[in-house]
Amino acid sequence: TRVEKAGHKHFMAKEIAEQPIVLGDAIHHYLDDGAAILLPETLDFTQYDRITMVACGTAYLACLTSKYWFEQLSGLPVDVDVASEFRYREPPIPARTLAVFVSQSGETADTLAALRYCHGKAATILSVVNVDESSIARESDIALPILAGVEIGVASTKAFTCQLTVMALLALRAAQQRGQLDQTALAEHLSALQNLPGLMNIALAQSDEIKAVAQKLAEARDVLFLGRGAMYPLALEGALKLKEISYIHAEGYASGELKHGPIALVDKTVPVIVMAPHDKLFDKTVSNMQEVLARGGKVVLITNNRGAKEAGEGVWQLIQLPEVPDLFAPILYALPAQLLAYHTAVAKGTDVDQPRNLAKSVTVE
Ligand code: G6P
Repeated sequence: TRVEKAGHKHFMAKEIAEQPIVLGDAIHHYLDDGAAILLPETLDFTQYDRITMVACGTAYLACLTSKYWFEQLSGLPVDVDVASEFRYREPPIPARTLAVFVSQSGETADTLAALRYCHGKAATILSVVNVDESSIARESDIALPILAGVEIGVASTKAFTCQLTVMALLALRAAQQRGQLDQTALAEHLSALQNLPGLMNIALAQSDEIKAVAQKLAEARDVLFLGRGAMYPLALEGALKLKEISYIHAEGYASGELKHGPIALVDKTVPVIVMAPHDKLFDKTVSNMQEVLARGGKVVLITNNRGAKEAGEGVWQLIQLPEVPDLFAPILYALPAQLLAYHTAVAKGTDVDQPRNLAKSVTVE
């Protein structure tokens, strides 16, 4: 089937805009009338003592985000690795390990090699893929589709948020099976997930405001992204997206690590993008943000209404998102990160869908 841009200037723009729909499809696929999670019976999280996750690129960052969810909700310890490191380190794989592989294409050479390594160690192999007939899907004990539809833009967008959604459902299932989540709490989380497509539409409606910020970002040489908790992997993803398509040097950092290095870079030429929903870590993130402001740094604060009221003063640019339950904030906050990268690249005139030196699927080592 031939995929068209459907009126968008780039595939990436189309794929960003599609997220409320494909996310809704994924949620619908895995929820029975919205009340119960539909996953294969053979997937029983009480059989495992730990989870090891392996992936590359954006899929790796989806794993890193989900680590926060799995550990908080289910109490299962989670290790996350990039496939190129994992495969040659010869990591021990104890009995009762669930090995999880996340891949949009299902063909990434390093991820596939890591899967085969775990298979050789008799671990149960679960994969989360976009391409159902891919090698990674075929070689797994259980393969779960993310239902994002064909993704053409080299910089992954809708596959990322669909990966996050499936990982969130898996974390909820793990918590449920391990007796860590009662019916009421589960119902609340599921309804929070179901509300995400609507919230995404509100975030997408801010595209013009984000574009105005991006036009300023386009002049920067270096950009820092900061976040705490599950927003830390999203800071990494924001930086990855920006460097991939705009070629601006960008780094993501855990807010608390700011004073252990990146603060040395801060001056009035370095925009610092702070991803800070008004969650229980908000005050801590804001105090890191203040350290940036005190050194003349140019802060772009991405937060909600309450966050903007409490901490918006003195920031260079403000991007406001709707309220979202803390747990799933990374799924919503992915959108302004993608839009910032997209509009910055467009402002710089780079090849958004086919950035130099990058491939959609890395099938050779
Ligand atoms: C390449 C792509 C990325 C992707 C990564 C992993 O680097 O440009 O967008 O995240 O590979 O690919 P996969 O298909 O395994 O998710």
